[in-house]
Amino acid sequence: MFQLFTEEEWKKTNQNFNKNVSSFFTGKKNEVFVITNEDTITYCIGLGKSGIQDFEVQQVATKFSQTQKKNLLPASTLLEADFLNEKQFEEFVKGLLIGTYHYPFDKSHPFWSVDFEIHTENVTQQKLDNISQKAEALSNGQIACQDWLNKPANLKKPEIFSAYLQDLAKTHQLNYTSFDRKKCEELGLGAYLSVNQGSAYDAAFTILEYKTTANNAKTIGLVGKCVLFDTGGVSLKNPDNMHYMKSDMGGATAVLGALIYASEMKLPVNIIAILPITDNAISENAFLPSDVITAYNGKTIEVLNTDAEGRMILADGLSYLVKNYQTDLLIDLATLTGSSVRMFGDTCGALFSNDEDLKNLLVKTGDKTNQRLWNLPLWDVWKDDIQSDVADLKNISMKPIGDCIIAAKFLEHFIEGHPKWAHLDIAGVAFGSVGYAKEKAATGFGVQLLADLIENYH
Ligand code: BES
Ligand code: MG
Ligand code: ZN
Repeated sequence: MFQLFTEEEWKKTNQNFNKNVSSFFTGKKNEVFVITNEDTITYCIGLGKSGIQDFEVQQVATKFSQTQKKNLLPASTLLEADFLNEKQFEEFVKGLLIGTYHYPFDKSHPFWSVDFEIHTENVTQQKLDNISQKAEALSNGQIACQDWLNKPANLKKPEIFSAYLQDLAKTHQLNYTSFDRKKCEELGLGAYLSVNQGSAYDAAFTILEYKTTANNAKTIGLVGKCVLFDTGGVSLKNPDNMHYMKSDMGGATAVLGALIYASEMKLPVNIIAILPITDNAISENAFLPSDVITAYNGKTIEVLNTDAEGRMILADGLSYLVKNYQTDLLIDLATLTGSSVRMFGDTCGALFSNDEDLKNLLVKTGDKTNQRLWNLPLWDVWKDDIQSDVADLKNISMKPIGDCIIAAKFLEHFIEGHPKWAHLDIAGVAFGSVGYAKEKAATGFGVQLLADLIENYH
């Protein structure tokens, strides 16, 4: 049995327990105390002071799950917390499941490999079923996101990731389309191809569509940066932290998690997701600083730094989406710039949007899910910094300042006038300190943010 307590609840009820327990357990946040009787084991779990926020309830459960899963036996479990409201209860179950994520490759513990059941006395069975379904869909999405981001570069070559997506499309009834290099050339996806041309692996400009059967549903367009490994290309990165660049697909894995959630929950929306998959490699075919290339929308780009590859592939992702699909919202997510990392560290993602309502909605959803965003401007004062003598645009500014804004201004040239666009630079938050690993690892950033946004967008 899992029994939850805030410090206040514990004070009220602890006389029901053996006196000794009170000297060990007080209900502080993340405190765990195990009481064993002849036939029951009770895990007392502390939630801290009352007034705890919903996302904190999830955090406590995730931590509990991460630290205790090895000690637990497979069994259906009673969860007792009469004072929790339904939403908090839901967050607790979500956290329990998310905390089961195994890293790296070990097999899961029996307790967590069975569909364990949670019972509680104060939530109806119907609501409980709904909560379990939500929690399962969310943890499936978040765990897929984390697992793919965490994989080492040699275990996520383009064909391997593509095979997974194709398989996912089958099991989740998604439409799957992928353009190889030849097809991309025909279509004129020149900005994406400029990055892919140096790769030993074929292009895979991938489109995944989730369609609802509901009438009059809204359509959301998502683009996720999917650079499986970013060496920087010929503008080579410093090797000290290069291994982190296996996480340069963090935008794509956030989109992946949201797609899993939406399709498993059968949400009444349509989603068009574009993942331009490639690595950014060095080879005799790699693009070079000074190259002038033509993007899908016909604009020409002077490449001055091949390490600014994310904005190149997103440019074609965005304009392909807008030119070929009608969407109510257009959101791209990308581990785009070191500049956003220097600005916000791991505290929040940088948000840019041309629509006040969408901006407010994203900030609010970020606060609620604790996947926070902070809005930055898109003023035209930065426009001239990416004007080129030989092309419509250059891919970097010559000034060493505010590159996350410069990158957003660059992308603005490829949204083809879409009135509701948001760009999320998640370079600092997708990969960082987590409860399940010693070193930096995938945080799952973006999955709960997008899931909540999509679920509540009608
Ligand atoms: N993938 C990187 C951005 C990044 C940096 C992600 C740190 C996660 C952590 C991106 O492709 C990149 O290399 N950006 C360059 C742009 C520069 C050359 C204008 C950067 O930020 O250094
Ligand atoms: Mg780069
Ligand atoms: Zn990159």
